[in-house]
Amino acid sequence: MNKEGVESRIQILRKQLHEHNYRYYVLNEPSISDLEFDQLMRELQDLEKAHPECFDPNSPTQRVGSDLNHEFTQVTHRRPMLSLANTYSEEEVREWYERVEEGLQGQPFEVCCEMKYDGLSISLWYEGGRLTKAVTRGDGVQGDDVTENIKTIRSIPLVLPPETGCPDDFEIRGEVLMPWDSFEKLNREREAAEEPLFANPRNAASGTLKSKNSAVVAQRRLDAYLYYLLGDEIPTTSHYDNMQLAGRWGFKIGPQMKLAKTLQDIYDYIHYWDKERKNLPVATDGIVLKVNSIAQQRSLGMTAKSPRWAIAYKFMAEKQTTILRSVTFQVGRTGAITPVANMDAVQLSGTIVRRATLNNEDFIRKFDLHIGDRVMVEKGGEIIPKIVDVDLDARDENLGPRVEFITKCPECGTPLVRYEGEAAHYCPNDASCPPQLKGRIEHFISRKAMNIDSLGPETIAEYFRRGIIRDPADLYEIRRDQISGARGQKDKSASRILMGIEDSKNVPFPRVLYALGIRFVGETAAKTLARYFKNIDALATASEEQLLEVNGIGQVIAQSVRTWFANPQNIWMLERLRSYGLQFELSEEELTEHTDRLAGQSIVISGVFAHHSRDEYKALIEKHGGKNVGSISAKTSFILAGENMGPAKLEKAQKLGIRIVNENEFLELIKG
Ligand code: IVH
Repeated sequence: MNKEGVESRIQILRKQLHEHNYRYYVLNEPSISDLEFDQLMRELQDLEKAHPECFDPNSPTQRVGSDLNHEFTQVTHRRPMLSLANTYSEEEVREWYERVEEGLQGQPFEVCCEMKYDGLSISLWYEGGRLTKAVTRGDGVQGDDVTENIKTIRSIPLVLPPETGCPDDFEIRGEVLMPWDSFEKLNREREAAEEPLFANPRNAASGTLKSKNSAVVAQRRLDAYLYYLLGDEIPTTSHYDNMQLAGRWGFKIGPQMKLAKTLQDIYDYIHYWDKERKNLPVATDGIVLKVNSIAQQRSLGMTAKSPRWAIAYKFMAEKQTTILRSVTFQVGRTGAITPVANMDAVQLSGTIVRRATLNNEDFIRKFDLHIGDRVMVEKGGEIIPKIVDVDLDARDENLGPRVEFITKCPECGTPLVRYEGEAAHYCPNDASCPPQLKGRIEHFISRKAMNIDSLGPETIAEYFRRGIIRDPADLYEIRRDQISGARGQKDKSASRILMGIEDSKNVPFPRVLYALGIRFVGETAAKTLARYFKNIDALATASEEQLLEVNGIGQVIAQSVRTWFANPQNIWMLERLRSYGLQFELSEEELTEHTDRLAGQSIVISGVFAHHSRDEYKALIEKHGGKNVGSISAKTSFILAGENMGPAKLEKAQKLGIRIVNENEFLELIKG
C-alpha cells in the first residue's frame, strides 16, 4: 500500500471502530461480532505501529491506556463546577418548587427529573469534534487533568464526526461510575488477592480514575453518564432537548430522564425510582430536579454555592433495627483484628443481614455497646452493613454485659498490640498464628502473585489443617501421595495442582517479590523495587537510605522491607524458595531492555514527535532508568524536544541553560 492508501485505510478503520464502539458501549446494540471488532482493531494497531507519523491521541487504539505512571496536572475549569443543594424531604422539594414558581412570577415551567448518579463528576471538553481534556471536579475551580484515564472509558466518544452537528466548542459534564457488575468482579479479585475491598462503587470509581496507571483504569471497566451541556453555542433552549441531542452525538445519557409538568409528577417520579433504582446497572443515591428552560434557569440564577434552578433529593439509606447477640473477632492476613457483630437476621436493601462490622475498639466504645442492645443497622452504598446507632431507651433489665475488646488473639492466644496512631489491634505472632499463615499462602498463590489457580482457599485450608503446608515454600515440597486420594478421579486434580505449582517457577521476579507479601509492597512497589535492585540479594541487603533513593519508595515501604528481611524466618523461607527454582532476579530480557543510561536524570518531554509517541518516549526514559517530569526547573537534566516545542518552555529552558535534545539524538543516547 502506498502512503495515501495507508492513511486513508487508517482513517476508515478509526471511523468504523468509533462507530462500533458507540453501538456497543452506548446503545448496547452491536452490529458486528467481538471477533470482527478485534480484527479491525488489530489491523489498525498494526498500521499505526508501522506508521508512527499517523499517530493520533484520539484514535480508538488509545483506549487501552498506558502502563506508565503519570502525575496529574491541575487545570482551571472554564466555568466553575458547582454542586447542588441537597434535601432528604419531600416537604423541602415542595418548598423548592414553590420558590421556583415565585421566582418565575407565574410563568409556566417544566422540571426535568433525572437520576442522581453516585460516582464522581467529570468535565469533558470537546474542540473541533475531538475530546481534548477531561477534568475532575477538584475544588470546583481547579481539578485534575485525567484525560488519559478518561480515554479508556469506552462509552465516552473520543471523536464526534461533523455530521452529528455538535457545536465546535463545548463542555459536557457527567458522572463517572463503576457499574455494579464490574464492582463486584473487582472486589472478588481483590478478595482473592487479599487486597482491601472497595466499600462501594463510588470509592472504586474514584480510586480507579485517580490511578496513575491508565492501563489499570482500562481493565476496570468504568462507565459514564452525562447530564449537563455547557458552551456558547448550545443547540436548544431546553435542557432535556440538549441532552437528547447529545445522546445522538454519541454520549451516554441517563435513559430515566423525564419531564414533569406538576409537583405530583415529580413525586410520582421520586416514588417510582426509589423502588426501581435497585434494578439499575449503576449506583444512584437520589433524584436531581432541574428547571428545564435554560432561559428560566438564567433568570433564577445562583446562590453563592449552588444554582436556584436545581435541587437534589437524596434517598434515605435503608436502615433497620435488630438485636445484638454476640461479637466475634476475626484475624486477617496482616494480623489485624476486626470485631464483627452477630445480630438477629433483618431484611435490608434486598438481602438478609446477620453480621455487621464494628471497625475497631473506639467504635465499640463510642456506642457503649452491650450484648442484647437494640441496634440500628444501615446498608447504604457500602457492601458491608454497619451499626449506626444504639437505642438506649430500649435497654431493660435483660441487658447483657458490655462488649469488651479482646486482649489476646482469638486464634493463637498471643497478647494483642495497638501501634501508635493506628485504630486497629494486631496479633504480633506472624510466625505461627494460623489465619496469618494461611492468609500469606493464599496471597502467595493469588492471580497477580504466583497465579497458582489450581489451588483455592479451601484447598489451602485443608492442607494447612492436615499439616502439609505452613508457609509458601512448603507448596514446593508437596508430594503426590500426600494429596491424591484412593480414587483415580482425585489423581487428576492432584496432577493439576502439582502442575500449577511447577509452572509458577517461571513467574517473573517482580511478581515473586509481590507474592512474598511484604507489608505495603503492592504490585507497583514490587515492580519498582525489582527493576531497581534487579535481584533479591541486592534488595535484601539494601539499607533504608538506599531504599529511599528509589523513585516511588517512601519511608513506610522502606521500613517494612527492612523489617521483613531482618527476620531470619523470612530469609530461611526465601532460601528454600530459591532452591526450588523460583525467579529471584530479572530475566536476561528484562535486563537488556532496561539499562541505567539515563539513571538519575530528570527529563522533560515537549512537542510533537515523528518516530514514537509521547507515551513511548516516556516508556523509553523509564526503561533506561530516567525520570520523566512535567515541568522545567533548574533540576531538569535535559529536554527531549520534538516539533513545535511550546515557546514558553523554550524560553524557560534557555533562561536556565538547559540542554535541548532532539529525537534522533535521544535515540542515539539510549543506544549507548
Ligand atoms: S447537575 C449545576 N445532574 O451530584 C448542576 N448532577 O451536588 C450540576 N450528580 O456534583 C450538577 N447525578 O456529581 C447533576 N443527573 C445529575 C447528577 C448530578 C449526579 C452529582 C454531581 C454533582 C452532585 C451534586
